[in-house]
Amino acid sequence: MEKTEIVTGRRVERLVAGHATSDGAGVKLTRVLTHDLQRRLDPFLMLDAFRNENADDYIGGFPDHPHRGFETVTYMLAGHMRHHDSAGNSGLLVPGGAQWMTAGSGLVHSELPEQVGGLMEGFQLWINLPSSAKMGAPHYRDIPPDRIPEFATEAGVLVRVIAGESHGVTGSVKRPDTEPLYLDIRLPAGTSFEQDLPAGHNAFVFAYRGSVAIEGSPVPDRHMAILENTGEGVRIEAKEEARILLIAGKPLKEPIAAYGPFVMNTPEEIQQAFADFRAGKFEAASVRKD
Ligand code: CO
Repeated sequence: MEKTEIVTGRRVERLVAGHATSDGAGVKLTRVLTHDLQRRLDPFLMLDAFRNENADDYIGGFPDHPHRGFETVTYMLAGHMRHHDSAGNSGLLVPGGAQWMTAGSGLVHSELPEQVGGLMEGFQLWINLPSSAKMGAPHYRDIPPDRIPEFATEAGVLVRVIAGESHGVTGSVKRPDTEPLYLDIRLPAGTSFEQDLPAGHNAFVFAYRGSVAIEGSPVPDRHMAILENTGEGVRIEAKEEARILLIAGKPLKEPIAAYGPFVMNTPEEIQQAFADFRAGKFEAASVRKD
């Protein structure tokens, strides 16, 4: 296993608590990465965290809705969610698994719980596409838990590499334009973890079980830390056991026109998305699955 050596660690620029909201048919969630952070955290557009024990808070799921112009990554920690799309594809998201969907020119899909009770926990991240790929063919990939590479450091830190590369371990997904890194990291008490980050890539940490510290700054439970862009990587320390997401990517530096489920470059393209959706063009999309 490669040893990462960081000379200077990125510091915490800002802590974000996110806000409680609901989406779909009444699914309670915390919107961690909100609209106003889209430019700062380019290419990331949204991060929702959901953790609901009470079925009433998730049972409605996300009935049929369209997407155009970006990618969604759903990562489950607990519970089962069924995905259906307009091309007739279907997949089941299970604990520890992920789904990587490239909406491209557009599709209509639903994301519905396949359980009547118990915990439902996970995340949905939205990643932008460059203008050249926004009208590409829709595609999605279900990644079962055993297809997400994992490794443990000597200190016992457990890392799941959903996308990108960490300590010489390549993740399940590589994307060309935004080069996303998406790690789920479990740090036992008294351990630390280092990850190198390419210069210029925007990065953030979301602590979802317990708190950590980055260059001496605390990152409390259920908070996102936006990292400064100077420094060769990030050093994360846990006094007590903690679980975090570390997400980074290459900014696209293009105009962002975002409205609901459509993320394009101009308001005209958003209007076109609405017109195409009303004309039924999204339902007709053929969605490639692998
Ligand atoms: Co969706």
